[in-house]
Amino acid sequence: MSGHLKPCQSSIFKKQVMGITGLMLCGFLIVHLLGNLLIFVGAEAFNTYAHMLITNPLLIPAEIVLALIFLSHIFMAIKLTIENKKARPVPYYSRQVSGRGSTFASSTMPATGMITLVFLILHIWHIKFGPVYTVTYSGVEMRDLYLLLIEYFSNPIYVIWYVVAVIALGLHVSHGFWSAFQSIGFHHKTYTPKLQIIAKAYAILITVGFASLPIYCYLQGGN
Ligand code: HEM
Repeated sequence: MSGHLKPCQSSIFKKQVMGITGLMLCGFLIVHLLGNLLIFVGAEAFNTYAHMLITNPLLIPAEIVLALIFLSHIFMAIKLTIENKKARPVPYYSRQVSGRGSTFASSTMPATGMITLVFLILHIWHIKFGPVYTVTYSGVEMRDLYLLLIEYFSNPIYVIWYVVAVIALGLHVSHGFWSAFQSIGFHHKTYTPKLQIIAKAYAILITVGFASLPIYCYLQGGN
């Protein structure tokens, strides 16, 4: 059957797209986390960094590329999940953990992916369309995103939501990071187990790093 499909309709192609876009998103997460950690340095450092991003002429092209990467990843994920549900009773993500049975992270990939998607929509909505406070440093007026975050995370419900969402994201990448290599055709007796360890360490870094931000903002007590 698959011999009659166009290359872009084959499930191997879809898995490859998911793997490559997934790894790109892992790279984005690290860069985003590093930038956001400036919250710990202080309002001026964080706002100045965000101002540099917002006023960069490359922002719009970068946002378009990022949106395309997110959309391709989500689109292929939904297509593959539906196709595999129709074709086989055993989910694709579970079967990927060859010889070891499924793990909690692998069997919850669609659910943790959906939570991340909902999180992302609300997160971007809040940042882009939330209240616009401004602040002036060295004569330059800029958006006070630090104040926006401090105000937002003074509400414990939002803190809990962010922490739950980044735990889901952590679970998602703890499986996705190494299985992306399998999807793009890299499987090695020695290196795949090492990638699985790196994936766990990466997932812990992402979860603890992102969760620390709303908790820190909350502990600032709205100041
Ligand atoms: C949990 C703590 C997080 C905080 C405090 C935070 C904060 C921010 C801030 C201040 C911005 C606007 C400035 C900038 O682009 O850096 C932003 C944008 C964005 N964030 Fe986050 N973020 C968090 C987590 C995440 C996560 C986990 C994801 C992905 C799943 C994410 C995805 C994005 C995206 C896609 C943008 C828009 C980028 C753009 O338009 O250039 N964020 N975030």
